[in-house]
Amino acid sequence: MKWDTSKADKQYEKECVVAPETPGSEPRETQETLSNLLHETRRFAPPAELAAAANVTAQAYTEAEADRLAFWEKQADRLSWSTRWNTALDWNPPFAKWFVGGELNVAYNCVDRHVEAGLGEKVAYHWEGEPEGDSRTITYADLQREVAKAANALTELGVGKGDRVAVYMPMIPELPITMLACARIGAIHSVVFGGFSASALSGRIKDADAKVVVTADGGYRRGAPSALKPTVDEAVKECPGIERVLVVRRTGQEVDWTDKDVWWHDLVDRQSAEHAPVPHDAEHPLYILYTSGTTGKPKGILHTTGGYLTQTAYTHHAVFDLKPENDIYWCTADIGWVTGHSYIVYGPLANGATSVIYEGTPDTPHRGRFWEIVQKYKVTILYTAPTAIRTFMKWGDDIPAKYDMSSLRILGSVGEPINPEAYVWYREHIGGNRTPVVDTWWQTETGAVMISPLPGVTSAKPGAAMRPLPGITADVVDDQGESVPNGGGGFLAIRDPWPSMLRTIWGDDQRYIDTYWSRFEGMYFAGDGAKRDEDGDIWLLGRVDDVMLVSGHNISTTEVESALVSHPKVAEAAVVGATDPVTGQAIVSFVILRGSAEEGADIAAELRNHVARTLGPIAKPRQILVVPELPKTRSGKIMRRLLRDVAENRSIGDVTTLADSTVMNLISEKLPSAKSED
Ligand code: WT7
Repeated sequence: MKWDTSKADKQYEKECVVAPETPGSEPRETQETLSNLLHETRRFAPPAELAAAANVTAQAYTEAEADRLAFWEKQADRLSWSTRWNTALDWNPPFAKWFVGGELNVAYNCVDRHVEAGLGEKVAYHWEGEPEGDSRTITYADLQREVAKAANALTELGVGKGDRVAVYMPMIPELPITMLACARIGAIHSVVFGGFSASALSGRIKDADAKVVVTADGGYRRGAPSALKPTVDEAVKECPGIERVLVVRRTGQEVDWTDKDVWWHDLVDRQSAEHAPVPHDAEHPLYILYTSGTTGKPKGILHTTGGYLTQTAYTHHAVFDLKPENDIYWCTADIGWVTGHSYIVYGPLANGATSVIYEGTPDTPHRGRFWEIVQKYKVTILYTAPTAIRTFMKWGDDIPAKYDMSSLRILGSVGEPINPEAYVWYREHIGGNRTPVVDTWWQTETGAVMISPLPGVTSAKPGAAMRPLPGITADVVDDQGESVPNGGGGFLAIRDPWPSMLRTIWGDDQRYIDTYWSRFEGMYFAGDGAKRDEDGDIWLLGRVDDVMLVSGHNISTTEVESALVSHPKVAEAAVVGATDPVTGQAIVSFVILRGSAEEGADIAAELRNHVARTLGPIAKPRQILVVPELPKTRSGKIMRRLLRDVAENRSIGDVTTLADSTVMNLISEKLPSAKSED
């Protein structure tokens, strides 16, 4: 038993018997804050050697606190500017301009300057295709030539500064090359994840009014070519604004051809490998990336040039302690998400890193593929998502044990709260109990990491993102926007603008104001629940829309899920609140058992009691449903909305954003065995 249950019981008493109050203020409604049920006592101090040589030490916090803007100016100076800025920040809430008057070229910073510094032969990307043996090595000099050619090609297609280019590609080197070519000429890329449908693609093309699409015939997924071009063809039919479609030949699949289409190898290969980078204003738009959120039309998140590159480069240097001379860095995200934009393309390249890019899925051709890649390239820094980590746990400890992963020195996590048990498993079975794990909280909107341990400084707690990075003023606030005391829960908010913040929603300033800046006066509302523990460290508790209200207590889905995952028989769990005549909402849990666990008759009772012991009786689920899979978005987030439909016996809502549309059938089939208790 790893949870401190006596404390949890006390906590339960405190919350159920005594109404929580903030000292010196009116008693608050219990509904207004999030309960703080989970108590975790494990700590992992940084390895001494790593701490001694760390890129960033505790002094950074002091420095940033003393003068936040001077701190960010110092980080901006890590880049090469053709004109230095005159004002660090122009803040006209909620509209920010960073490094006003400054000019720079992102592609020059990510590529050319490293070549000029004599690092042309250094590997920028070890690219690993999904078919085994299919790999490419791209040096910084190669990248410079390829980006120059692609920039010349886009120019020939009529793409100019400020034009939008839609990008719908597999994870092949031409994807970062296209992004950098756009950045070089000042065109604004809008990368659309290759798993999205034709209507999702055409909606995004139209919203941004893109004039060119860059795509490929297809990519490899689960051992087979997976076509992309037909989806583009269908989308482009709806988008008269698209003038040209540039197509990389990757799989050699049959494609339909129109007079808008041009092959990459016909156009790009014949271009000059020279292209003079032009300086762009620090606030020139770099890219749009659509995020769907829970409801409504996707929001085109707009990121700009100087502040974005400053913070992605700095955080990559600080959070991963990147030593470009020695490290082999691998972020497993898809470049179609912000994680890939900031931590496969812009941050690592600005820092002159050597990265791995992998095209395919972790189970192709076998479930050890990731670890084989770590072994092959001697990866030192690995950045992945909790959903992947829980999948690896489910597949079993014996798989990673077969590979030599002694090169790893830092592990990262992003995308969802990481359950403490998954964190500890990751550290032990992937990191050999040597490596710090950095749980990095951020969003498409924030552009770069905001809350995270520093691997050479922080004594990390499994499941906690810990502290805002130097220069970031994140806070946990109550319904009124007041900071909650240590031990309290509420909403995550950001008090001051940060360099890589979104500048607006493309074409919709009002929606930008309403979505992010209207919930709390003068603060950015992230939409996440959070708590601050007794030491002042921050724990993320999931989206506020997912919070459950049980007998007047706001309970986070994350805490109950983590309690379930702490049971040795559980691999994954998803929890939702379902309408209940007695308690308002009741907790309904969906669990996937570990490979070795038997679905015995009393598993539900066993798990319910386990949660009650761990978090307190208030968090005891009304129902436990054992399921074979959970519904997830293509970026790996659990779609609790669909599980709420199941829990409340409704017909299941819109499943178009599910990664695997058959999952809900699997779950519905399991329903007759649903175990309802008491
Ligand atoms: C949402 C943002 C940031 C890149 C990938 C996702 C959740 C993200 C964490 C974390 C707890 C996390 C939040 C956030 N999230 N990282 N370390 N701990 N929650 O980008 O698709 O814009 O999603 O992901 O709920 O708001 P995104």
